[in-house]
Amino acid sequence: MKSAAGVYQLYIDGEFVDAAGGRSFPVYNPATEEVLAEVAEAGAADVDRAVKAARRAFDTGPWAQSTPASRAQALFKLAAKVRVELASLAEVEAINTGKPIVEAEGDIDAVAEVFEYYAGLATKIPGLVNPVSANALSLSLKEPIGVAGLIVPWNYPLLMAAWKLAPALAAGCTCVLKPAEQTPLTAMMLAQWFAEAGLPPGVVNVVNGFGESCGAPIVDHPLVDKIAFTGSTAVGKEIVKRGAETLKRVTLELGGKSPNIFFADADWEASVDGALFGIFINQGEVCSAGSRILVERSIYPKFVEAITEKAKTIRLGAPLDRETKMGPVVSKEQYDRVQKYLAIGKTEAKLALGGGRPAEFEKGWYIAPTIFYDADNSARIAREEIFGPVATVIPFDVESDAVQIANDTPYGLAAAVWSRDIFRVFRVVKQLRAGIVWVNHMQPTCVEAPWGGYKQSGSGRELGPWGIEEYLETKQVHINLNENPIGWY
Ligand code: NAI
Ligand code: MG
Repeated sequence: MKSAAGVYQLYIDGEFVDAAGGRSFPVYNPATEEVLAEVAEAGAADVDRAVKAARRAFDTGPWAQSTPASRAQALFKLAAKVRVELASLAEVEAINTGKPIVEAEGDIDAVAEVFEYYAGLATKIPGLVNPVSANALSLSLKEPIGVAGLIVPWNYPLLMAAWKLAPALAAGCTCVLKPAEQTPLTAMMLAQWFAEAGLPPGVVNVVNGFGESCGAPIVDHPLVDKIAFTGSTAVGKEIVKRGAETLKRVTLELGGKSPNIFFADADWEASVDGALFGIFINQGEVCSAGSRILVERSIYPKFVEAITEKAKTIRLGAPLDRETKMGPVVSKEQYDRVQKYLAIGKTEAKLALGGGRPAEFEKGWYIAPTIFYDADNSARIAREEIFGPVATVIPFDVESDAVQIANDTPYGLAAAVWSRDIFRVFRVVKQLRAGIVWVNHMQPTCVEAPWGGYKQSGSGRELGPWGIEEYLETKQVHINLNENPIGWY
């Protein structure tokens, strides 16, 4: 996994190798701001090698002869290995991202679950017999799409990789995975176990590097059939444009500005808890974060006060401390981006809590849980994804206003509604323009259920049976049962 010089290498065609250009880049510990590791930096030449290895493995290698059952076995083995190594993977994930260790353990458990789920699903993808005329038999066959480029972000590094790797491999695809440059370490740990799980060389390749110099060459490469991306909406748009050149299949999981809607009749304690959990879990670095908290006017002042008081008890600390509920944000770049929005927010709304760096930390990219209130939905802090621990609280008067404000956004990833009135709940659920809607909860994510966004939050769905569909082509086969000539000429 590491070179003699201690640099984490790339994983191409079943081997750990240096980058062609011999370059490397540092990866940081966001809690200490210190360099945690050096990682080989892949460029277009390395991507080309990785893609060609994936192509060969898909076209002619043993993987091309694999069966759904044999792929299931490999995925079950990988899942088992992840479970055995859960503690070490979670520790590295926590140190590298800054997230609390308890959350990292949950992430790695979910990684194993995703591999297990798609191991089970691999053998349950039937084709169809199409009801055509009597003198023919028509089949729809499901086949792997080919080489898949998987480009993932830093907020849930190994989990986002698993959301893509597992269905891709279950379907029979081969992969070039590009972890985020901030957080490549757990993916490199996983790469150590591909061979022993029974994945032949070239089936999964891992290249580390930056967006323009390593991500873009994957998108441009003519031998890549499909791109699955999670990250910013801006890069998602770029991928669609660049991918158009070779008509890539593209699935995108992008940003959000998800509304978390509280009606006066909702359970009080659960609501206060849910508002905080929705935005402060994972330091707010969550695509589905409930970053807009919409509150019915009659409870609004009391609600702002209650969430502010309770948010004061959120314990910031070192990622490996088991009592820690919030760590630092992932990088200096993200810290600066959030700070910029804190300054903007102070001109647009009232500040109830936070608004900067907590005084007790001398080092580390820590940002205090921040609550802005009396915001208008037209404010930048209500419209733009901040991706940090920053809540924007907005009052509303009646149900129709809540729906109108909730939908007044270019995004449509997730939404949540809190109420005890089932008529109201279902009316609101039906009107929300979002791919994921929670009722009296926010954030639970189940591998069995579809995940993805409406509007500019993306296209396609991950998880569940929907997730594997995105890695499959459908082949129509028409079998003539009439032995006579066509008789046309
Ligand atoms: P990003 O979208 O730039 O990075 C995500 C991944 O895409 C990384 O692996 C990166 O190397 C790669 N990438 C970047 N440019 C690329 C290009 N031109 N072609 C191919 N791949 C490319 O996200 P970044 O800069 O880390 O964060 C910026 C903002 O994006 C955050 O503040 C947040 O709002 C949003 N974001 C959303 C995520 C989500 O889960 N939906 C995850 C991470 C970031
Ligand atoms: Mg970027």
